[in-house]
Order: sequence, then C-alpha cells, then structure tokens
Amino acid sequence: MAGVLQLTGINKIFDTGKQHVTALENVDIDIGGGDLFCILGPSGCGKSTLLRCIAGFEHPDSGEILVDGKAVDRPGPDRVMVFQGFDQLLPWKTVLENVEYPLKVNKTAAKKERRDISMEFVSLVGLADFAHNYPHQLSGGMKQRVAIARALAMNPKVLLMDEPFASLDAQTRTALQNELISIWERFRTTIVFITHNIQEAIILGSRIAVMSKQPGTIKEIIENNLDRPRFVGYPGFDEKWKVLHALLDFNRLS
Ligand SMILES: Nc1ncnc2c1ncn2[C@@H]1O[C@H](COP(=O)(O)OP(=O)(O)OP(=O)(O)O)[C@@H](O)[C@H]1O
Ligand SMILES: [Mg+2]
Repeated sequence: MAGVLQLTGINKIFDTGKQHVTALENVDIDIGGGDLFCILGPSGCGKSTLLRCIAGFEHPDSGEILVDGKAVDRPGPDRVMVFQGFDQLLPWKTVLENVEYPLKVNKTAAKKERRDISMEFVSLVGLADFAHNYPHQLSGGMKQRVAIARALAMNPKVLLMDEPFASLDAQTRTALQNELISIWERFRTTIVFITHNIQEAIILGSRIAVMSKQPGTIKEIIENNLDRPRFVGYPGFDEKWKVLHALLDFNRLS
C-alpha cells in the first residue's frame, strides 16, 4: 500500500531570539500503509520535532504533510501520539477510564460500545486485571501499555511513538517491543516509531530512516526485511547494525 503519510520538503527553524536552530531541513518521507517506520538519530537531530509536525502540534515553516492525501494543519484523532514519559495518563482516572476518555471526547461511539472497545484494548495489552486500578498503582511498563491501548482504541490512521520504551528497564523494553510487533502484525496500523537505539530500530522497523544533526536531515532510509522475530546475533542483524552505526556517525560531536 502506498502513501498513507507523505512529507514533502519539510523545513522547521526555531528562532528563540538568541538562537537560530534548523531543526528540520528538506525532509521528504513517504510512508506506506502498514509500515512500521522507525526514525533513528542522535539527540537533538529533530526527531521529536518531526513527529510533532506530523501530529499537528508544530507547524513546519515550509513543506507539506499529507495523511491519506489530506493536508495536516492541526492535531486530529487520525494521528495519535505515545510519548516516552510515564506521566501521560490522567492520574484521577482508572486504566479503563484513561483508555475510554479520548473516545468520549471525540464522541467515537455510544457509551456501552465505548466501554467495550476500551476493555478490549486494555485486555489486548494484558491489563484486564488492572482495568480499575489508578496510574499510581502501576509500574512504568504497565503505564506505557495503557498509553498504547488508549492510542490503539482510537483506531488512528497513524500511530506516532516518541521513544515510548526509552525509560523502561531492558527486560520490560523487550517485552513491550514484542507486544508492539504482535499488535502491529494483527492490526497493520501504520506506525512511526522514534528511537535513538540501533537495536530497537532493527528489531521493530520495516524501514529505518537515519537522521543527522545540524541541520536535521534524513541521511538515508533503509529497508529492513529481516525475518521476525529478530534477535541480536541472528543472520543479518549484525550487518544491519554496522550499516546503521556507520550512518549515525558517532564520531561527530555536534
Ligand atoms: N520549542 C522549541 N524552541 C526552540 N528550539 C527547539 C524547540 N523544540 C526543539 N528545539 C530545538 O530543535 C532541535 C531538535 O529538537 P528535537 O527535540 O526535535 O530533537 P530530538 O531528536 O527529538 O532529540 P532527543 O533525542 O534528545 O529527544 C534541538 O536543537 C532543540 O533544541
Ligand atoms: Mg526527542
């Protein structure tokens, strides 16, 4: 499938008065339906800015972003974001209520159906037994699962994930990577997933865009057709790692 998300000639400069930062320069990306598209790049290269532009939280200075052929100019329920931090849930609402809340705000369905959809996605991420718990009663990994359930329940055209597993311990991170892949294989949701971790990009991505810094440009986009599940040491993994490592250019300091 072609062209669910198309970015053409995206430029974004932040001018704080003192500083002039080119966060994005001439970014062109064409993401097909059902892609799990990873964006890999060093800190400060413009990854979050790019995702925020797709979400409609930021406006590019020039260029065009199309979702299913329609220009993006503001946030919308067709593009849902999952962030890195554990504080993206409403603390006064239960797990189930958190998942249900955007459906309610967007009047997605009648009350009973909303509940059913929410419970389905809470169960999908393995939290049925915690549906009536509050966020403070959950671990970091469980909170991220709720954020993912909430995003999926909205049935977005594009799921935007900004380093969602970066604050998790290695074991939980692996578990959530596997869950994300099985969810993606089941629903074929188009996902844009940001990471600065090479292994994570190889494990998840069907395509991987490498960004470089100052200015924030797309250096290269590589296809990743390795068989799944993917593990370090499996055929082809280390070769991909070397290619990406070289592209990331760790020797460059700024
Ligand atoms: N609102 C803003 N005002 C001014 N400068 C900004 C703003 N947002 C981002 N920037 C600058 O734009 C550049 C890109 O930032 P961005 O947050 O997109 O990077 P990133 O790749 O997501 O980094 P990280 O991996 O650390 O999250 C940085 O130099 C940052 O300082
Ligand atoms: Mg960021």
